[in-house]
Amino acid sequence: MSARAYINAEVVKNLELAEGAYHLVVDAGSGMEPARPGQFVMVRPKEGLDPLLSRPFSIHEFEPRRMEILYRVVGRGTGLLARLAPGQTLSLMGPLGRGFDTTNEKVLLVAGGIGVAPFLFLARRLYEQGNSPHLLFGAKTKEELVRVEELSEFCAETVVVTEDGSRGEKGLVTEYLEAAIAKNGVQKVYGCGPVPMIRAALRIIESHGVPFFVSLEEVMGCGVGVCLGCAVPRADEGYLHLCKDGPVLDAREVKW
Ligand SMILES: Cc1cc2nc3c(=O)[nH]c(=O)nc-3n(C[C@H](O)[C@H](O)[C@H](O)COP(=O)(O)OP(=O)(O)OC[C@H]3O[C@@H](n4cnc5c(N)ncnc54)[C@H](O)[C@@H]3O)c2cc1C
Ligand code: FES
Repeated sequence: MSARAYINAEVVKNLELAEGAYHLVVDAGSGMEPARPGQFVMVRPKEGLDPLLSRPFSIHEFEPRRMEILYRVVGRGTGLLARLAPGQTLSLMGPLGRGFDTTNEKVLLVAGGIGVAPFLFLARRLYEQGNSPHLLFGAKTKEELVRVEELSEFCAETVVVTEDGSRGEKGLVTEYLEAAIAKNGVQKVYGCGPVPMIRAALRIIESHGVPFFVSLEEVMGCGVGVCLGCAVPRADEGYLHLCKDGPVLDAREVKW
């Protein structure tokens, strides 16, 4: 089955982990091609053809048949997704896009809130290659540090930061970035989270001369290069298209 066709998948679990943050597990049968960390799927919360209901989500974890998504409810599509119960069916297309490079280097993962979603699959892959990454994970409160225990199992070190100080360090994740890069001799940083976090992180990471790649979770239409609804301005000129050139992009190539 092509990665570009929608297939039906059965909901195995759809659990609210923290207010508005859900962990969805589906059985995609044998119709889904193997995924790479950092790739995404287009999901329709209902069986059917309504293209206006397709939404992109990072692949949180993947095994043959079983795929997981971590999502926050923000509007109509994610609201419908949150109502799905085990045994119900959704439509999905993927894996799509370019993922993370998983060659062996000293990697630091920087996550903000639900932006942690693509990092479980990536951390596990790096761990299995004998290259456990370092993790810096920030959120507003301790409740929003979703799936941190599962992720930490694959990481050489985990530093958590909360804005209200309810767990770990207090403040913004970017305040602890400089130390994390210097202390661990980091060769590459991967980031995912809100754009202001990415922007602030880029300034710090650039000053260390370390490459910075981001999974950019902006608005998308079709997911397959047709609608041009995912255009992101390039730092020099022209546009990048998230669904084909990304969602993982070199942060220096983007005009922030
Ligand atoms: C490649 C990719 C991977 C993604 N992975 C994840 C993931 O793993 N987990 C997750 O929770 N979300 C992820 N997102 C974001 C997710 O696709 C959106 O939150 C979702 O499409 C919103 O759909 P909706 O119908 O609920 O909201 P809508 O009804 O479409 O919008 C509701 C509100 O949310 C805002 N909004 C919509 N999309 C976004 C967005 N992408 N970023 C910020 N604000 C938005 C709208 O402007 C509006 O104010 C990803 C996006 C991309 C492009
Ligand atoms: S989302 Fe349609 S072209 Fe990228």
